[in-house]
Amino acid sequence: MRSAPGAMALMAVAGLSGCSGALSTLDPAGPAAQSIAMVWWWMLGIATLVLAGVLILAGLAFRRRDGQRLSRRGAWRMIVLGGVVLPTGAIVALLTYGLPAGQSMRVAGTDAYVVNVRAHQWWWEVSYPDGDQAPLSSASEIHIPAGRPVTLNITTADVIHSFWIPRLGGKIDAIPGRTNSLHLQADVPGQYAGVCAEFCGAQHARMRVSVIAHAPQELARQRDQLAQAHPAQARLMQNADFARQCLACHALDPRQSAGSAPQAGPNLAGLPQRATLGSGLLPNTPENLNMWLREHQRLKPGNLMPHSELSPAQWDALTALLGERHD
Ligand code: CUA
Repeated sequence: MRSAPGAMALMAVAGLSGCSGALSTLDPAGPAAQSIAMVWWWMLGIATLVLAGVLILAGLAFRRRDGQRLSRRGAWRMIVLGGVVLPTGAIVALLTYGLPAGQSMRVAGTDAYVVNVRAHQWWWEVSYPDGDQAPLSSASEIHIPAGRPVTLNITTADVIHSFWIPRLGGKIDAIPGRTNSLHLQADVPGQYAGVCAEFCGAQHARMRVSVIAHAPQELARQRDQLAQAHPAQARLMQNADFARQCLACHALDPRQSAGSAPQAGPNLAGLPQRATLGSGLLPNTPENLNMWLREHQRLKPGNLMPHSELSPAQWDALTALLGERHD
C-alpha cells in the first residue's frame, strides 16, 4: 500500500499529459478558451471534493458497529446537507462562474475582425467582408489577425453542424435559417485546429476546419493573395473537362460566393494556397490532388461531387492546372 500515492501521482501525470494537443480545451490560446478551461478546472476541483466527502462518509458507515444507527435528527441533517445544500450550492457556484464566461463569447469586441462561415456537408465555406467590394470567398481555413477580437458569423447551407475550435473557444451550432455569432481571439500567431462537433451525416468526422492567426502584415499579404483569381483561371476556363465537370459548382473568382445552393462546392481561387484538400483530409500536394480528383468518393464517400470518368492524361492535365501556384 505504500506505493499507492506514487501510483496515483503517476496516473494523474499520465491523465494530465492528455491535456495538451491540437484539439484540447485544456490548452487555451485565447481569453474565451481560457475562461472555459477555468470552469473545467473548478468543476474538476469541486467534483473531487464531493467524491472525497462521499468516500469518507462511506468509510465511516462501514466502521460503525452493528445496531448503532444514526439518530432521526442526524439522518435529517444528512439529507438536508447532502441532498439540498450541497447540490444547490454547487449549481449556484457553477452558474455564477459559468454564465458570465459563456456570455463573454456572445459580446463583440469593438474593433472585431469579421469572418462569415457557412457549413456545408462536409466542408466549411469562409468569406471575408471587404468594404464596398464583394466578400472574399474561400474554404476550410480561416485566416484571422492574432491578438485582436474576431467575430465569426456562423450559419449552414443544409443540416445542423457545430463549429468548434477547442483551443480558442466554445462550440456554436450552425443552424439552418439562422446566424449565430461567436467571439474569439487568438493571443499569438499560430494554427488552431477545429472540427464539426455535431453529427451531420456520414462524413461528419471528416469535416475539419483550421484557424490560422497572423501578425498584421502577414494577414494583409494573405488577403492580397486570396483576392487574386486562380493563377490558371484562363486556361481552366478553356479546359473542356473543367467546364463540363467542375464549373457548375465551383467558382474560380474569389469574389463569387458558393451561396446557399445545396450543390455549391468550395471556391477554387485560393486552392493553391490551402494546406489541405477535402476539408482537412489530405495534405495539399500534387499527388494528393490527383488522387482526390479521381477517388474522392472512396476517400470521402457520399460527398456531393459526382464521380467522373476521365483518362489518366485528362486527370493529369486538370491536376496541373488546379494545383498551379502563384509565383
Ligand atoms: Cu458537420 Cu458534423
